[in-house]
Amino acid sequence: MAEPRAIDPAALRPRLERAFDFAARQVRAMIERTPDYFPIYTVGGRWQHGGPLWTDWCGGFHAGMMWLIAERTGEPWWYEQAEHYSKLLEHRQHDRDVHDLGFIFLNTYLPWYRRTGDVRLNEVLITAGRTLTLRFNPKGRYLRSFVAPESLFIDIMMNVPLIFYAARETGDANLRAIADAHCRTTERTLVRPNGGTAHEGIFDLETGSFLRQSTHQGLRADSDWTRGLAWSLYGFGTVFTYTSNPADLAVAERNADHFLARCPESLVPPWDFDVPEGPDRIDDSSAAAIAASGLWNVSGLTSDPLRRERYRSAALTILDSLCSEHYLADQTPGWEGVLKHGVYHFHKNLGVDESVMWGEFFFLEAVAKALGMRA
Ligand code: GLY
Repeated sequence: MAEPRAIDPAALRPRLERAFDFAARQVRAMIERTPDYFPIYTVGGRWQHGGPLWTDWCGGFHAGMMWLIAERTGEPWWYEQAEHYSKLLEHRQHDRDVHDLGFIFLNTYLPWYRRTGDVRLNEVLITAGRTLTLRFNPKGRYLRSFVAPESLFIDIMMNVPLIFYAARETGDANLRAIADAHCRTTERTLVRPNGGTAHEGIFDLETGSFLRQSTHQGLRADSDWTRGLAWSLYGFGTVFTYTSNPADLAVAERNADHFLARCPESLVPPWDFDVPEGPDRIDDSSAAAIAASGLWNVSGLTSDPLRRERYRSAALTILDSLCSEHYLADQTPGWEGVLKHGVYHFHKNLGVDESVMWGEFFFLEAVAKALGMRA
């Protein structure tokens, strides 16, 4: 089992500050180079290219970074950019084609609403939450993924908090019931007894019964796709902040323990823990970044003092690794992203060993937390 390194937060701080400033420069350069463009992954380190998207789910990460940078710098220019890019996403509140509305709105309209208190911004969040519930399959009791009605993805655990949020804001018990049902179905069908996770579950549309685990981006149906595991860790932790249900926190803790048990010393995992040693065993820095931010959260939620310390140290260990020259692109001339060595979709050869937008966002978010900017 890889143990977190003993990181001295005071020694790490200047490296985190440099990484944050570098990210701000990269985002500013992207705004100036390609205004109003929402990137997903790089090709050879360049954001703009003709490569396919698979699905359009990343707008909230680019705009979300602008909110983080605005909050840190306090500069009006960054707030203007954050609002402008968020506004470009507003129409997505009605988007029924993706399961990613939490990614899009919780990182944009939520910080915007928290800053201004403008109820019209809250209405957008609530509408987006209601739109997400339209994916609910009442027989299977899950929110279906974008690929097919019979498909449930682990990734949706990062989006279901938007429904919990809308339920809390409106007092609508139906919204809350849908969100709760989705979490219990995900726990039952995708989270394994050892704390690992499957990417996808397939259901019988006639009866609603669960048929089998499956995958798109992982190595196999029964393997540990590491980003999915990080989505689950982070997602169930966030859900616990709405439900206070010990079952939600217990899943996040099992995910965290499993993640740490299978990680190498750097705590930066390969894109799937079950890829054999060899050229295909490529790191996914984005899984590490999501895990760092999620571990930071779960460290603050758990009542177990050993876990609290271990998860916090693990988050700092990951950030220490990601701030090294190997991952951080600040020593790589011409590279337009912040973090190198991410993987989007290995099998489709999309964004393999590249910068990926969610890796950028969750890295910056985790850095912000470690710098004391966000809880
Ligand atoms: N589609 C979500 C992910 O690639 O993790």
